[in-house]
Amino acid sequence: MYKQLVKVAELSPGAVLAEKVFNFEQEVLLKKGTELTKNHLGLLARYGIDVVYIYHRIQETEAKGWIRKKVNSAIDLPLQKVVVDSKIDQRVRKLVDEVVSFAESRRGLLSYLHRLKSLENDIVLHSVNVTVFSLIIGCKLGYGEERLKNLALGSFLHDIGKSLVGPQILNQSSKLTSVEFTKVQKHTVYGYRILEEQLNINELAARVAYYHHERGDGSGYPDGIRAKFVDEFSRIVAIADVFDAMTNHRTYRAKIKLREVIEYLYVAISQNKLDQELTKIFLDCLLPYPVGTKVKLSIGCEAIVTKVDRNAKMRPVVELTNLYGLNKKVELDLSKQLHICIEEVIN
Ligand SMILES: [Fe+2]
Repeated sequence: MYKQLVKVAELSPGAVLAEKVFNFEQEVLLKKGTELTKNHLGLLARYGIDVVYIYHRIQETEAKGWIRKKVNSAIDLPLQKVVVDSKIDQRVRKLVDEVVSFAESRRGLLSYLHRLKSLENDIVLHSVNVTVFSLIIGCKLGYGEERLKNLALGSFLHDIGKSLVGPQILNQSSKLTSVEFTKVQKHTVYGYRILEEQLNINELAARVAYYHHERGDGSGYPDGIRAKFVDEFSRIVAIADVFDAMTNHRTYRAKIKLREVIEYLYVAISQNKLDQELTKIFLDCLLPYPVGTKVKLSIGCEAIVTKVDRNAKMRPVVELTNLYGLNKKVELDLSKQLHICIEEVIN
């Protein structure tokens, strides 16, 4: 058994407090070891106490197997969306592997990750994507091994606080009310508390959990501070987070076309929401037409991207589709057929 921060609203009678609970005057309201009754839960709610530490037990082996499997199946997808050399590719895979090993070895951490399982927007897949994109920016910035490891940890755990927000709100497909949105915003503070106060994980990683929703113009949360007060890791993770959230399907909206996301990132730079230099480094790595993209060509045909030469990322190899009933494959290498170009991406 070990302690875990849990929302009072989600507790049932019988849970055991793993830490004392204080009232506003710093007097002990409930002692460590108290087995909570219905009355105790009412008391905590009346005092406005949002979260408490309780003793928790999970099936360690089940949780370990689950997270490793998830990460292994997720790692290829974000790497197909970017252009990086094989050295960076291998380095990123190794760092993701190391961060998973670390998460598996920290008992308390694993249980928080396991709680994310009930959420429809897959936070673990999202975290793998954000880690890959963040590490690519870190590699391009020439970070050393130690710094990259800390960035991997911060990006992989950036949304860990969502484990305390609860599935009712996070799985909601309708637009959130302002009260609900305030509750979602709290995942930044919860994340910091889990990583820094409870698990004593590297301060740099905890800061990412806290600051990754701050924006350069002060329009972000939880504090609404400007970029110059936010550390570089958090500014990197903010870019990776926005990009991944927009390119993937969420319960509240469909995914957005890559080209539109790229345009959005340029707008975000011009409005001083995202860090200009870091976003440009990331934009430079993006593949506008990854394998599988359906496109319309300037000669009027539709086609599907089948191969991308990373040195000619605007001119991939495509296979023509809808060839008026012709039952054979026609491939075009657009890097050689310079008179033909891609006009648009088809949804
Ligand atoms: Fe977040």
